Amino acid sequence: MPDSRSVAEDFNAYLTDNVGADPYPAFRRMREEAPVVWAEPLQAWVLTRWDDITAMLEDTENFGALMNRPGTSSIFGRAILQMSGDEHRRKDAILAKRLRGPRYLGSTIEEIVSGLVHEYGDELPVAPEVADLRTGLTEPVPLGAIAELMDMGAASNFRNWYNDIVAAGTSNFAQDPVVHAKGETARDELYDFVTPSIEERRGCPGDELLSDLCSMEYEGERLSDDEVRSFTAFLLSAGIETTDRALANLVKHLILQPEQWQRLKDDPSLASSAATEILRFRPPVQAIVRMTKQDMEVSGTVIPAENKLMGFIASANHDPDRFDNPGEFDVGRFEGAERPNYTPIGPVRAFGAGPHTCTGSLLAKLEMERTLEYLVERFDHLEFADDVPPDTGIVLRSPETLDVVLHPAA
Ligand code: HEM
Repeated sequence: MPDSRSVAEDFNAYLTDNVGADPYPAFRRMREEAPVVWAEPLQAWVLTRWDDITAMLEDTENFGALMNRPGTSSIFGRAILQMSGDEHRRKDAILAKRLRGPRYLGSTIEEIVSGLVHEYGDELPVAPEVADLRTGLTEPVPLGAIAELMDMGAASNFRNWYNDIVAAGTSNFAQDPVVHAKGETARDELYDFVTPSIEERRGCPGDELLSDLCSMEYEGERLSDDEVRSFTAFLLSAGIETTDRALANLVKHLILQPEQWQRLKDDPSLASSAATEILRFRPPVQAIVRMTKQDMEVSGTVIPAENKLMGFIASANHDPDRFDNPGEFDVGRFEGAERPNYTPIGPVRAFGAGPHTCTGSLLAKLEMERTLEYLVERFDHLEFADDVPPDTGIVLRSPETLDVVLHPAA
């Protein structure tokens, strides 16, 4: 008889005392023995099975956005994740036109991203010096891409705004008031910077995302200034730290498993599959939050209305009902079958599922592939400068720092 109480207790103890430890054994136990548990430190029901999580994300009738609670995007108000139905479809289409449309993705954005990878990559110190890969490469590439997309390259404070807004969002579980206040200040400064740009683009739109947000219409009306500002702050949170951490996870595991790095050296065309595999194996977003709209039964547990749920997509990605040898990191796993995993169709849940599946997934794919191709071409091998950097974080998870020694190819 499975002891589900102790499974829940073990997970609660992990969350309170030991979040640096490997969570995957706990996910496996929960999937097998207690797929729905109450986690006191998260004030949420935790779901761990692929089927349950996918059903929750697809069922917008019964599971909705969690508003105005700790760990939500209260810092910048209502944005795309809080919308539903027709409004969501149409406003998401404004973002998708630029973030997913082949016209931009295949030319303008591609050029921007490749340029950023080379610009920052070429500046990295090589052996015997130590390179800080997160501040030197994995963060500035997605940061630079969003700044270009929003035509905000001129905002010299962009990086600080980004850091403070992100720290005050999902990561601020403890609701630290100082962190929250800093986030609000950064948001206000960002809004002050964006407001005149909105005015300007209303009259004379350019060829970037901010102009799209200012000029496109929903039900015969343009987005309000407030909405444009919220979308801007949301994109800062959604589009930078996620890719940054995905790349950090990728580099970490390629150093830990040199035979997988060697496979990429021997066949660089595996870069696309390798990027998809790290998103399965160590997704940077570990959990997605929802709220029950009414009492709902999930895998035999009744969850009351207006309760918070967290679908651990990191666990879904290791569900043996969906993936063979899920605990194995195999850079060739998705060869030729990468693309569906950047849409709601593919089995990898790193980008969610259902109508809110990540709109920026193809941009993330591009950024990850270009960065990985660059590293594989330019370096013979990489090693950690010090001990293996531990993973931290519950909702977003990756090593906090990535100090490495880069050995150039002959
Ligand atoms: C590896 C990188 C990324 C990961 C792992 C990731 C993950 C996710 C996840 C899990 C969701 C669903 C959240 C939910 O259902 O509550 C999401 C939504 C979203 N993401 Fe990403 N994301 C990444 C990169 C990006 C980028 C680069 C952008 C844009 C520039 C972006 C824009 C968005 C948007 C707009 C949504 C909301 C979609 C909607 O509500 O319809 N993301 N992302």
